[in-house]
Amino acid sequence: MAVPDKIKQEVGKLRQQIEHHNHLYHSLDSPEIPDADFDALITRLETLERSYDLATPDSPTQRVGSEPLTRFTQVVHEMAMLSLDKVFDEKDLEDFDSRIKKRLESDAQIEYSCEPKIDGVAVSLMYRNGVLERAATRGDGVTGENITHNVKTIQSIPLRLKSLDVAPVVEVRGEIFLSKQGFERLNARAEVEGSKIFVNPRNTAAGAIRQLDSRSTAKIPLQMYCYSVGIVEGIELPTRLSGMFTTLASWGLPVNPHRSTRWGITECLQYCLDLLAKRDSLEYQIDGAVIKVNDLDAQRSLGNNAKSPRWAMAYKFPAEEKSTVVLDVEFQVGRTGTITPVARLRPVFVGGVTVSNTTLHNMDEIARLGLRVGDTVIVRRAGDVIPKIVKVVDPEKNQKSANSRKRKKIKLPAACPACGSAIEKDGEVLYRCSAGLICPAQRKESIKHFASRTAMDIEGLGDKLVAQLVDEGLISQVADIFDLNLDQIAGLERMGSKSAENLVAAINQSKQTTLPRFLYALGIREVGEATASGLVNHFGELDKIMAADTASLERVADIGPIVAQHIATFFDNENNLALITTLRAHGISWPVVAIDVGEKPLQDQAYVLTGSLESMSRNEAKARLVALGAKVAGSVSKNTDCVVAGPGAGSKLSKAQQLGINIIDEREFLLLLDDLSR
Ligand code: IVH
Repeated sequence: MAVPDKIKQEVGKLRQQIEHHNHLYHSLDSPEIPDADFDALITRLETLERSYDLATPDSPTQRVGSEPLTRFTQVVHEMAMLSLDKVFDEKDLEDFDSRIKKRLESDAQIEYSCEPKIDGVAVSLMYRNGVLERAATRGDGVTGENITHNVKTIQSIPLRLKSLDVAPVVEVRGEIFLSKQGFERLNARAEVEGSKIFVNPRNTAAGAIRQLDSRSTAKIPLQMYCYSVGIVEGIELPTRLSGMFTTLASWGLPVNPHRSTRWGITECLQYCLDLLAKRDSLEYQIDGAVIKVNDLDAQRSLGNNAKSPRWAMAYKFPAEEKSTVVLDVEFQVGRTGTITPVARLRPVFVGGVTVSNTTLHNMDEIARLGLRVGDTVIVRRAGDVIPKIVKVVDPEKNQKSANSRKRKKIKLPAACPACGSAIEKDGEVLYRCSAGLICPAQRKESIKHFASRTAMDIEGLGDKLVAQLVDEGLISQVADIFDLNLDQIAGLERMGSKSAENLVAAINQSKQTTLPRFLYALGIREVGEATASGLVNHFGELDKIMAADTASLERVADIGPIVAQHIATFFDNENNLALITTLRAHGISWPVVAIDVGEKPLQDQAYVLTGSLESMSRNEAKARLVALGAKVAGSVSKNTDCVVAGPGAGSKLSKAQQLGINIIDEREFLLLLDDLSR
């Protein structure tokens, strides 16, 4: 059929427009047109291609996936796809640098290209005359699999390179990956649809790229960053890797914006440390940094070992996921009687720390995981987030395995494990010991809470000592702390006389406190530090708080009917009133608080503090914010107005970035305090 020129022109123009918008959207993250307009362009192109039989392999319509293959064909890599040697510390990285200098017979500082080591799947893309001809997995390094059909569904990989002067043949290599956000969205959808939950982004990407049916791959929002060039024919390319990245980007290929050129190994190490600090806030999972000699001639003269190049090194970060075995599940009784299952694990080094136990939250979580004692599980600890069990490793295999007899069902205990009292169901998923402060576990927990750093701050009175004092019968409730004498403390096992003196001094010192600390230390249900401060700012005096009814309590910002009820119930209880009287008789006191009736410049704004601050403690920063009317919360949500992020900020910072919340550093924070306190 003769195709009118007008149609041919329109098809050419549509393809150009679509690739242009694709690049803006997927590689540069700055779309110019709404999604619906983009879809209209695709629909029009599809219609024309179908009506006039004009579809070509590099047409953007090919990205939606095609008929399934029956099997993968093999691809032999003309230039082997090597892997990387790895180091875990500074010293070994310095040795790498020394070896290079020795081989190059040079004392001069080496220029390196530093890049994130993305935890994904390696891929080779072969472009001929600018058109994506073939994509292949790494396989064993020599022979891989042809995955062209799947790679075409990845929106940020150009089917045709942009510039006109592209090489007749150029092979680009890089890492295909799934972003953390993409992964979470997939799992959110899987949960709604009741389909299989994905374990982690890397496995999901690896699975997606090895589908015979590319329509399945197209449903996974894969991405790619290029990290090197393989075969090149018919073109001169830059002589440094950094220049090569610029060229690849000019062809429309995605390159990692976190790459950086550094002089000397000390600067590379700094890059690694900076990257590690940023790890949590990156959009994708990384397992380290890659340090490469930047000069491509030097790379050639250094050459390769059997499996890896001599000019590159992976600096590995601690793994964030490891497998281990659940040795037992114990039930802990919290301060308010909540019974929480805790898994005892075979100790495992993950995310930079050794983890030997982790909370399972509640019985529903155990059911969701399908967990039994004896199971092999995957433990994840990313950044400063508490470690958690993400998955049981193949429960079916666990069942069939030789030690299946050892697998034990996890049952809620019939009675409180600490005092034997009855357990009551509280709400949907929680269980509670019904005994209140008669239960020794609740007693210990309430004393630990009372003495803790953010409450009465009794230095030296830690968890172990509290347990020892309660078990020895020296204290049974918080007021007893102030009756302890030097002889009693010094008489305890493993207690020196100096430590005993220090503890007595710390107990006395703690009597000078603040009202919010005291209120928080009482351990009223749902009354955290922020609520305690809110109550004090509103009422000013303890007696007024104690006398308030639920209606007036609810007038305090952030206090709803449930919390108001908890507070009123606490102060209705005779035992609690007697406790407060005893504590005050022991000399616990606080400076009078002036209720601030003036304008609060940060009234009702929600702040979150994360990372460390140099000029003040977190508590002080919190107090300053609260004094200006702000609420200081422990976690970031869409209601957060501002996040103050210091060095070492982790998941809270990345969440704030994801949600587009205003983030300020210490300097800006100090300026803000200065401005507002004037
Ligand atoms: S360079 C010959 N750069 O890590 C050197 N690899 O453990 C080829 N990887 O198979 C690799 N990010 O899949 C290089 N920026 C990066 C990388 C990277 C991730 C992967 C790659 C490689 C594996 C080696």
